[in-house]
Amino acid sequence: MKPIEVSAERDYGITFTDSWSRELKSLIGDRHFVIITQAQLRDRVKATFSEDSIIVTADGEEQKSLSTFTTLLEELALRALSRNSLIIGIGGGATTDLAGFLAATYMRGIDWIAIPTSSAGMVDAAIGGKTGINLPTGKNLAGAFHSPAQVIVDLGWLATLPNRELRAGLAESVKCGFISDSKILELFQDGFEKNLAEIIYRSVAVKAGVVSRDFRESFEREVLNYGHTLGHAVERDSNYTLSHGEAVSIGMVFAAEVSHVASGLSRDVVDLHYTILNQLNLPRSYKKDSWNNLMNLMGRDKKRRGQSIRFVSLKSIGKTDRVEVEAARLKEIYEASVGR
Ligand SMILES: NC(=O)c1ccc[n+]([C@@H]2O[C@H](COP(=O)([O-])OP(=O)(O)OC[C@H]3O[C@@H](n4cnc5c(N)ncnc54)[C@H](O)[C@@H]3O)[C@@H](O)[C@H]2O)c1
Repeated sequence: MKPIEVSAERDYGITFTDSWSRELKSLIGDRHFVIITQAQLRDRVKATFSEDSIIVTADGEEQKSLSTFTTLLEELALRALSRNSLIIGIGGGATTDLAGFLAATYMRGIDWIAIPTSSAGMVDAAIGGKTGINLPTGKNLAGAFHSPAQVIVDLGWLATLPNRELRAGLAESVKCGFISDSKILELFQDGFEKNLAEIIYRSVAVKAGVVSRDFRESFEREVLNYGHTLGHAVERDSNYTLSHGEAVSIGMVFAAEVSHVASGLSRDVVDLHYTILNQLNLPRSYKKDSWNNLMNLMGRDKKRRGQSIRFVSLKSIGKTDRVEVEAARLKEIYEASVGR
């Protein structure tokens, strides 16, 4: 598969390979480097790189904490990393977010390489240059735009990814299909397992294209938030028992219903959301009695204007729009979609 180029504050490539380690070794050359990874991936990293080049972090969101961040910054200094050294993040989105933020801040910014090992990391988190950690007050509240020097995608990692994580990450691919590339939707309908490589490749191309046209999220990049307005609120309301992808799945169905009412999206395309997300075994609706809290949570997001909330909507597959919809109307749409 041909590499995909991203143009951002620095241009970089996304390589697709069946040997991430060979690719990585040739990129490192003789530079001083450190690899940041997670415990369950350590053995695979150790098969190629020495133990003393590896730092193992906590799993999942736990590693995106201020305390881990400061401990690791200090660790980089103790290992005498210089401005020319490399940080390599190997893991899910949480690890690449942390590794990228360390690279953004250590010595005012050094190079880093992202090696995503989850579906969410491959199609979303490792691409686009956003790095960061969580604060006690909320997720991703400290961060920086700092593009990697290279992203290496090797689908071999996915063999050990828990099935629930694999499917949840693919919610972002479904989104890429609806906002930009209808072929992705055909591939899902044909069966995601056998088409996984092409689904991931095309999703990466969609995100890379959007980010290259609007790196700093001024307007166009907002289309990537399709399904995220309600999705973020559901994620928080569920106290993170639903993963990001699962919450986005619910949010996307809601955004499709909103699009039907406010942007003239055809019923067929709305129904296609239910069909594909159902095939992936992802949730399509949420608790009816959570609406008031979801409204409050969406209100805290930037998308609120007075009594209405702003959504990225769809006019048709591949044609996005922005709409502002009154709270009362949203409540009707939400209640009608519960349990569908
Ligand atoms: N920077 C961005 O633009 C961006 C975009 C979307 C999401 N994110 C961030 O990404 C994170 C979510 O990403 P995620 O879903 O990958 O979460 P994650 O990194 O927490 O990984 C999910 C789980 O899968 C495990 N895992 C990952 N790869 C594995 C593999 N190959 N084999 C076995 N287990 C594996 C992890 O250890 C973890 O338990 C969140 O922190 C989110 O904020 C960032």
